[in-house]
Amino acid sequence: MAPRERTRNPVWTDVDNYFGDLVAPVDSALEAAWQANREADLPAIEVSRLQGKLLQVLVQMTQARRVLEIGTLGGYSTMWMARGLPHGGRIVTLEFNPRHAEVARKNLENAGLLDRVEIRLGRAVKSLAALQATGAGPFDLIFIDADKPSNPQYLKWALKLGRPGTAIVVDNVVRDGKVTEAASPDADVVGTRRMMELMAAEPRLSATVVQNVGVKGYDGFVLAVMLS
Ligand code: SAH
Ligand code: DHB
Ligand code: MG
Repeated sequence: MAPRERTRNPVWTDVDNYFGDLVAPVDSALEAAWQANREADLPAIEVSRLQGKLLQVLVQMTQARRVLEIGTLGGYSTMWMARGLPHGGRIVTLEFNPRHAEVARKNLENAGLLDRVEIRLGRAVKSLAALQATGAGPFDLIFIDADKPSNPQYLKWALKLGRPGTAIVVDNVVRDGKVTEAASPDADVVGTRRMMELMAAEPRLSATVVQNVGVKGYDGFVLAVMLS
């Protein structure tokens, strides 16, 4: 994907660091995972620590035992969520880049979390179909964070793999405000807007969007719940 300019702001970074130090401190395993991602030259697009902690709090709030993540990268967000699981809880995380999946496997192993996580290699749409075909799920929380042009498809799969009460989180829906550009040729924007239109028209979903600023700039996520 082409590099894009991001709005960054020193106050947002200071505030992220202030709250992060208080409520989302990173221990040696999370720090090592972040470093390993850089050493392996993975794109520095993993969730921030406050966003990771948000995912963990959502896992705890929903008492999720089965979590589905679409887009693993180096497993950083996976680690935050895995640590919020109750005993016996599991995460299935989908990744098509074998190099990313291998870094994630090592990071999760190093953190002692690999027993709770299954990394499925392959294109996410194929893995999602396989999950349904094998009767996996329903999942209690689904985090969508892979290629943005496929977000409409991922939302449809989330509905199939969820149940009433399932929480659905979609990352990166604001993108510096680009989402409002209705005529944008950017495939990420097109995918996000189509996904939002599906969501808005879907009576089985109740959704909101949380705009977000911090060390990653200006972005946001969808928080949704399946009603039926
Ligand atoms: N959730 C991670 C970041 C994910 S980045 C975190 O916050 O730590 C998005 C990931 O999705 C990348 O690793 C990319 O390789 C993967 N991806 C992109 N398109 C995909 C596809 N079609 N199927 C599966 N994974 C995909
Ligand atoms: C990108 C992807 C992400 O999931 C993210 O959180 C930030 C940036 C990207 O593809 O640029
Ligand atoms: Mg993301």
